[in-house]
Amino acid sequence: MPSGPNAILGIETSCDETAAAVVDGERRILSSVVLSQLDDHRIYGGVVPEIAARAHLDHLDAIVARAMAEAGIGYSDLAGVAATAGPGLIGGVLVGATLAKAIALAHRKPFLAINHLEGHALTARLTDGIDFPYLLLLVSGGHCQLLLVEGVGHYRRLGTTIDDAVGEAFDKTAKLLGLGYPGGPAVERAAESGDPTAVALPRPMIGKPGCDFSFSGLKTAVRRRVEEVGDTLDAQRIADIAAGFQHAVAASLVDRTRRAIDLLDQQGVVGRPLVVAGGVAANGVIRAALADLAGKRGMQFVAPPLALCGDNAAMIAWAGQERLALGLVDGMDFRPRPRWPLDPDAAPSIGAGRVKA
Ligand code: KG4
Ligand code: ZN
Repeated sequence: MPSGPNAILGIETSCDETAAAVVDGERRILSSVVLSQLDDHRIYGGVVPEIAARAHLDHLDAIVARAMAEAGIGYSDLAGVAATAGPGLIGGVLVGATLAKAIALAHRKPFLAINHLEGHALTARLTDGIDFPYLLLLVSGGHCQLLLVEGVGHYRRLGTTIDDAVGEAFDKTAKLLGLGYPGGPAVERAAESGDPTAVALPRPMIGKPGCDFSFSGLKTAVRRRVEEVGDTLDAQRIADIAAGFQHAVAASLVDRTRRAIDLLDQQGVVGRPLVVAGGVAANGVIRAALADLAGKRGMQFVAPPLALCGDNAAMIAWAGQERLALGLVDGMDFRPRPRWPLDPDAAPSIGAGRVKA
């Protein structure tokens, strides 16, 4: 691949993916390397912060070297170095941000401290080049939010979860069904052979005013159904519960997003794209349900390719491009932040700024 102009190196270490990527100023991904630590955490059924931080430390040098080699450029060719500086598991964030600062300092390049959520939020501009503003449904292991993305650094929160994040609900449901970790892809696979109407489950928040989410009641209902079935929890029953759960989540996300669209309509923000981002955006049933809603409302629907839904460093390098273009460079004294909401003006809420709780 030809080396593009103004390439930025991006680094992502906020959870259990060690990732580095190079993206140029013309939206070309010159390299994107993601090392998943899944095998390190699987036996614990979730991400162990200390193990994650040590694994980033072990692998990040090699991942960055590979990203640079695949992009075919040297450090002196870079326009800047970007790294996730929060929110996330702080041990891992410190590893990535410190290496990025060191590279920037050694090669006299600008350092860009990126909010991980801003990386997810701006991915649609990397992949599809869409203009501001747009409605964003951010669905990941630590977040479930509806935001109006008005510009780089300008986010207006329309709704958020009042308890669990949606990815967390997938992960917990998978655990209850004995489907292992990570839960999202496992639940989606099991649901393929299930009947979503076979098991009665609630449809969280549907019809309620506002745009907030709630998933803990659905999770409790899944636990009850599993307990009721007891020893007869066979493959078909597991598939039916997985399908029912996924169906309920999709219906809830669609209902809340529809309300956000109505709210924006009332405020005169009409005909703008609907974007979904974050790890849960990889879910085919949820993507299809949102595409259907966007079609009905005459909105362009943008969902990143699967490789850019989950955590990756191309989104961090791209957010770096967006910020550098606006002169938003950070100093070496930037302190990484375990919590860092996208919309600091919104009322504090449970779930804001957490990653894979
Ligand atoms: O964005 P992400 O990689 O990490 C965070 O920043 O949280 O999201 C990870 C979450 C996990 O909870 C995982 O179970 C979920 O995304 N996920 C899915 C699917 N693939 C990943 N959830 C539902 N369906 C999927 N296919
Ligand atoms: Zn993420």
